[in-house]
Amino acid sequence: MKCIQIIAAIFLLASCSSSDKNNHATWTEYLGGSDRNHYSTLSQVDTNNVGRLQIAWTYDSPDSGQMQMSPIMVNGIVYGVTSALKAFALDAATGKEIWLYKDSAASSGTCRGVAYWEDGADKRVFYTIGANLVALNAVDGKLITNFGNNGKVNLHTGLPEVAKDKFITSTTPGTIYKDLIIMPVRVAEDETAAPGDIRAFDVRTGKLTWSFHTIPHPGEKGYETWPAETYKNLNVGGVNNWTGMALDKKTGTLFIPLGSAAPDFYGANRKGTNLYANCLLALDANNGSYKWHYQMVHHDLWDRDPASPPNLVTVTINGKSVDAVAQLTKQAYTFVLDRKTGEPLFPVHEVAMPASLLPGEQAWPTQPIPSLPKPFAREARQLTENDISPFAANKNELKKILMAADKRFFAPPDTGKLLLLPGYDGGAEYGGAAADPFKGIIYVNSNEMAWFLSLEQQPKVAAGISNNKNTQSSAGEQVYSVYCSACHGKDRLGNASSGYPSLASFSQKQTPTYVHQIINNGKGMMPGFAYISKEDKQQLVEYLFGTEKSEAHSTNLSSAPRDLYRHSGYKKFLDDKGLPAIAPPWGTLTAIDLNTGQHLWQTTLGITPGLPDQDTHPTGCESYGGPIITENGLLLIAATKDGMFRAFNKYTGKLLWQVKLPAASFATPAVYFIDGRQYIVIACGGEKLGTPKGNKLVAFALPK
Ligand code: HEC
Repeated sequence: MKCIQIIAAIFLLASCSSSDKNNHATWTEYLGGSDRNHYSTLSQVDTNNVGRLQIAWTYDSPDSGQMQMSPIMVNGIVYGVTSALKAFALDAATGKEIWLYKDSAASSGTCRGVAYWEDGADKRVFYTIGANLVALNAVDGKLITNFGNNGKVNLHTGLPEVAKDKFITSTTPGTIYKDLIIMPVRVAEDETAAPGDIRAFDVRTGKLTWSFHTIPHPGEKGYETWPAETYKNLNVGGVNNWTGMALDKKTGTLFIPLGSAAPDFYGANRKGTNLYANCLLALDANNGSYKWHYQMVHHDLWDRDPASPPNLVTVTINGKSVDAVAQLTKQAYTFVLDRKTGEPLFPVHEVAMPASLLPGEQAWPTQPIPSLPKPFAREARQLTENDISPFAANKNELKKILMAADKRFFAPPDTGKLLLLPGYDGGAEYGGAAADPFKGIIYVNSNEMAWFLSLEQQPKVAAGISNNKNTQSSAGEQVYSVYCSACHGKDRLGNASSGYPSLASFSQKQTPTYVHQIINNGKGMMPGFAYISKEDKQQLVEYLFGTEKSEAHSTNLSSAPRDLYRHSGYKKFLDDKGLPAIAPPWGTLTAIDLNTGQHLWQTTLGITPGLPDQDTHPTGCESYGGPIITENGLLLIAATKDGMFRAFNKYTGKLLWQVKLPAASFATPAVYFIDGRQYIVIACGGEKLGTPKGNKLVAFALPK
């Protein structure tokens, strides 16, 4: 009997694809598995019955607001995180709360989910609050006190001393490999950014096990692609994996997309190609040793981070089966590489690009452009006068703006107006793509939103500015101007339609304590500024609340490293009604065959309420959050600003079913099976893109 079982086990192990398929029936890891394919073999819900999906249960989170969180399900329990960073465990069949972990340090921030690890009865859930990786007992939600420092590991661990007060967090769950958790991190995007070193911690003890310098130190490969001593992190940082990574468990290889170097838009202090910025980096998960890298933007000046984890798929090219890794980018490119070597599977050409005329800047003379697949979104260089939105009332004005803007391919930022399409947020965004790992088809939702990019001279800050009658601006205003005005505007009015709230007046709920808390921890797309000195922070908050005292006060601003130029503010190209100024589609969903590099289909994703014919000719709209697919032909996606949840036929792109969610969901769903029923669960927090806030996790299933 035993012998037969062993033979059966060997057979299962040997028939790799069937064991791979079994893995895809569960959802125990972020995005459905370490291949990050958002893919399920569950088959109870199919293209015929999807229209009968109903709400099976909902869970009301104790706080409301944006949730980018994609839950996991292990041993009958759904684990996730609320918008105010409370972790929860729910009965997967009923949605009933099993435990809720509240941390006094938890408030605002972005958390896309948790990582799970177990060894026998020792079951743990990991997620990040502020700068701390937290380990909880998965059974009762209590801190595991012998992990790190009383249950927490500070993510500054292993970074250079100068970075010890710099902003760091992790918005995406860590990747578990054996007894390690390998951490993605988010850092600032300006001169104050910490380096984005990849670090692996022991899941039992929290001890730092290995570290990989994403900005190389002397003697390390790639050191020569930066000015000497950049690694000292004095005025250049970043190169961080904020969106998470994929893991090939068979070979123990991590595939890590790395973001741009900081400051994002002015690279005078980081001349060179800047390895490993904008790279897909392959590391040995056991020890962090280098395997290969592939750079997708040289010397990035546009914040062109690869925004989603890569997808691990197997493709057949020229009759040969190849284990591949596909990386989507904000520019709407799909780089398809050989997982073993990092070699592109479709030709990539180094194309000559315009030089920078900005003092100090040296744009890289070429950029890698894949021949296939074609981009899944429009590019600024394709736009003509005819591409102004037919819905705009001020077409002539918009045409002038469009024709005057710099739309050249990879035009380097300057003090004039550059039109960025795909925009700062893609193309592809953090939601990423679903992929069929066996058939090599990838499905991606994309934004087609044009933004402006221009730089301005950094305002001069004299040492010890004092707040007296002789200076024009108060100390608080100076602090505001240096750290906040790029996003919230010089006038503090923000730019609501671009996603930047006004700070000109606060409601009763937004107390000075609340604002201090946001400054320290950040919120949504906003990084934290904990490193601003206590006095300057105080002055800043008093300035924002109009309570700044008139006596002299010096700021420490002159000690902050500042470049000659800075970004002048994030603005979308919109019409007089606040709708996109370019013609639709404004959001799309595309299926790409990675075996041939050809698009299989593309459809608009989402509608714009108030515009005509949305049932028959939808415009598409912005989306954040990704799709999931099932083996039997479904693609399920929310993500859109219109607040809908939709099911498509994955072979044809045909819309099969849609339902209004209690609040818009800017998250990727999860799918699992328990007690004879298949559930699809999704976090509805709203708030992003000006949508109403929500606090529900919603699980759909077929009627019993
Ligand atoms: C890189 C852009 C960026 C910078 C720089 C920035 N913010 Fe923000 N801020 C945002 C965004 C985006 C939001 C909206 C976050 C959300 O709700 O998702 C926000 C939200 C806020 C809020 C919450 C407003 C509300 O209505 O609840 C406060 C307060 C705030 N920011 C203050 C500041 C201050 C003070 C500074 C300077 C120290 C600053 N921000 C710098 C982008 C930025």
